[in-house]
Amino acid sequence: MAPKYKTEKVGIIGSGLIGRSWAMLFASVGYQVTIFDIVPKQVTDAVEDIKQQLKTLEKDGLLRGQLNADEQFKCVKGSSDLATAVKGAVFVQECVPESLDLKKRVFQDLDKVVDDRTILSSSTSTTLPSLFSDGLKHKSQVIVSHPVNPPYYVPLVEIVPAPWTKPEVAVKTREIMLEIGQEPVSLTKEIDGFVLNRIQYAILNEVWRLVDAKIVNVQDIDKVISEGLGMRYAFLGSLETAHLNAEGMKSYIERYGETIYSVSKTMGEIPRMTQSTSAGTICQQLNQMVPLDRLQERRAWRDACLTRLAMLKKEMNQKKTNY
Ligand code: NAI
Repeated sequence: MAPKYKTEKVGIIGSGLIGRSWAMLFASVGYQVTIFDIVPKQVTDAVEDIKQQLKTLEKDGLLRGQLNADEQFKCVKGSSDLATAVKGAVFVQECVPESLDLKKRVFQDLDKVVDDRTILSSSTSTTLPSLFSDGLKHKSQVIVSHPVNPPYYVPLVEIVPAPWTKPEVAVKTREIMLEIGQEPVSLTKEIDGFVLNRIQYAILNEVWRLVDAKIVNVQDIDKVISEGLGMRYAFLGSLETAHLNAEGMKSYIERYGETIYSVSKTMGEIPRMTQSTSAGTICQQLNQMVPLDRLQERRAWRDACLTRLAMLKKEMNQKKTNY
């Protein structure tokens, strides 16, 4: 049977870590992907790196999609011309460094070369879409699709519209994310930090307060997540966790609602890491746990863990009953 290629084009702008991952995800279901980067060598390096990554993934049994590695690689091209990369594309994913001025410039350039049908999506992890799309002719086609690193194994994508994003753009973006095997969550409107980072910051803030107050040290507080909460949270969200921890959420509220409120009231001010007197000792303890010259090694271990977890989640999700 002939491979199931798609005819639709996708443009990737910026061929760093995230751009390469997006290119592989779109190619995994047969989209015709063109990668553009301001640095032409980055494009050729990215295409070569994707070829190697796809081969390794195939060898390790981790390749996504129905096409084999060669077939997926045939879907990926590079271009040193922005217009060529995005002309006629159904979807463009911007992956340039996190700078508002740069994002503004890139979206202005995109605005000049796309038509009314192309979705213009940004990978930004912190910038509100209204800040780089205001004033564009095609601003109603702009949206954020914020991935989590490494996107090939961590499927979450936050879909964040600007106030003027057409609802059908948000709907179509969600459909495309599902199609490429990611797990989209749709925000109804933009908000600082989106959702993932707001939750991450809430955790970091309380972790900081507890270490700052010398209640617990760095190694032990991190165990609370990796050996405790995180075990459940890898499979269930905090609300479903609560629902299961009592006889349903109503019973959880009755049992624990007031305790949660009174404990939360003791949590104190928002820590300001840049001015905190505990920053030195926190950094020192972390450097002992993972020396700075071993970060790369630890990241590789983290990614290996995430790969195995992704496989386990896939297996366990197949056993999950949907009601
Ligand atoms: P990166 O620094 O690895 O790659 C950025 C690429 O963009 C480089 O190849 C650079 O040459 C290229 N570039 C710079 N200016 C350009 C321009 N005007 N036109 C085209 N290409 C240009 O960055 P990374 O880590 O891939 O991040 C990209 C975006 O994804 C950022 O907005 C970042 O916040 C977001 N993101 C990153 C995550 C991460 O963990 N690295 C996770 C989630 C989102």
